[in-house]
Amino acid sequence: MGFQKKYGPWGLITGASAGLGASYAKAMAKMGLNLVLVARREERLQELAEELESNHGISTLCIPLDLTLDSAVDTLEEKTQGLEIGLFINNAGFGYLAPFLHQKDSNISKMIRLNCEAPARLSRLLLAPMAQRKRGGMVVLASAAAYLPTPPMSVYGATKGFDLLLGESLAMEMRTHGVDVLVVSPGHTDTEFHGVAGVQGSVAGGTASPEDVVEQSFRLLGKRISFVHGGHNFFLTWITRFFPRSIVARLSFQALKNR
Ligand SMILES: NC(=O)c1ccc[n+]([C@@H]2O[C@H](COP(=O)([O-])OP(=O)(O)OC[C@H]3O[C@@H](n4cnc5c(N)ncnc54)[C@H](OP(=O)(O)O)[C@@H]3O)[C@@H](O)[C@H]2O)c1
Repeated sequence: MGFQKKYGPWGLITGASAGLGASYAKAMAKMGLNLVLVARREERLQELAEELESNHGISTLCIPLDLTLDSAVDTLEEKTQGLEIGLFINNAGFGYLAPFLHQKDSNISKMIRLNCEAPARLSRLLLAPMAQRKRGGMVVLASAAAYLPTPPMSVYGATKGFDLLLGESLAMEMRTHGVDVLVVSPGHTDTEFHGVAGVQGSVAGGTASPEDVVEQSFRLLGKRISFVHGGHNFFLTWITRFFPRSIVARLSFQALKNR
């Protein structure tokens, strides 16, 4: 079955106004899917929608929305009523680098809402009709940070651990309904993420392009349930399982605390 037949006619991307989300949108438009684009910055969404409509002849629906709001899931349900959404890119997220005791309570709450609560509730909303149709797919953005403690990005790493486990579990549950779920764990990728998180400097292993992460995602969707992007990141996440957790936490703290 072709991509469009299996995952069309509509795809929905959260966090489509920048970075990985915008790259997923471009790749999906190229493959002929109509797109629902979700994020807070409306102008960015409109600009992207116009570009994709004129380059690929697809239809788009922009939904400017703060996914940390109590009403966000209901709003999304209402605005997408009647659309057959066959591919969900569960992507919007942010991180913040600061000692835990310096983090604002409101920021912790927002991060958990956007990175954990929204992905879980939106998965339920969008996977249920796919399961009924016995076809569809979801890509969940976790992170290489999901595999180890990440002081002083403690809350972020923990939220990505949630996404990793949620996505891998759903991959098993949804398999019986004919729906593919893939968890994607990128390392350092060239997006706006680092500016938002207040992270500076380069990393060992280099910086990936969002296009490469997206290309691998679509190559592996339906074949694997989870992958770590980049050889260096894969090695790091794999090797940590052979060391005591206290050593891994200490090394991770050394690497992150001066960034
Ligand atoms: N870049 C990396 O190195 C990296 C590595 C591992 C994992 N990831 C994961 O990849 C995903 C995408 O991140 P990215 O790198 O593409 O970052 P990005 O360039 O900062 O994009 C984040 C997207 O999320 C949206 N967003 C943020 N807060 C939102 C809110 N409250 N409601 C709705 N949308 C919101 C942003 O749009 P608005 O601001 O317009 O709302 C933007 O479209 C995240 O889940 C991140 O954890 C990234």
